[in-house]
Amino acid sequence: MNEEVSHDLGNLDDLGEGEMRVFEDIGDYGLVVCRVNNELFALEDNCSHADTPLSEGRLRSYNLTCPLHGTSFDVRTGEHSGPPAYEGVPCFKVNVENGTAVALPLGGESGKDDDFGGIGGIFQTR
Ligand code: FES
Repeated sequence: MNEEVSHDLGNLDDLGEGEMRVFEDIGDYGLVVCRVNNELFALEDNCSHADTPLSEGRLRSYNLTCPLHGTSFDVRTGEHSGPPAYEGVPCFKVNVENGTAVALPLGGESGKDDDFGGIGGIFQTR
């Protein structure tokens, strides 16, 4: 996914607290948008461990848990909770202006833990 591009998400007023919505046509894996504490957050809809849609997992508070092996990702930052995933996922800030939501790249290496103590390679599956 090109993390430098913003994405128009349309009107998300009907997305309820604790709910998720998938935008399959954005990027290589799609985007999953979540509403938590009446704020919107967006992550690439793909677990960094083994290419599983995170939108099929469970959202509890700010943590979206992968349905396959249980790593959770903070929807505010994309950071992962630990193995078996070895890094976070791309994360977007969601702004709402005039009723229209736009996902904006956070920039930098948000959500990516490049330094995983030198052992990340053993968890890499792709
Ligand atoms: S595929 Fe998500 S933790 Fe393994």
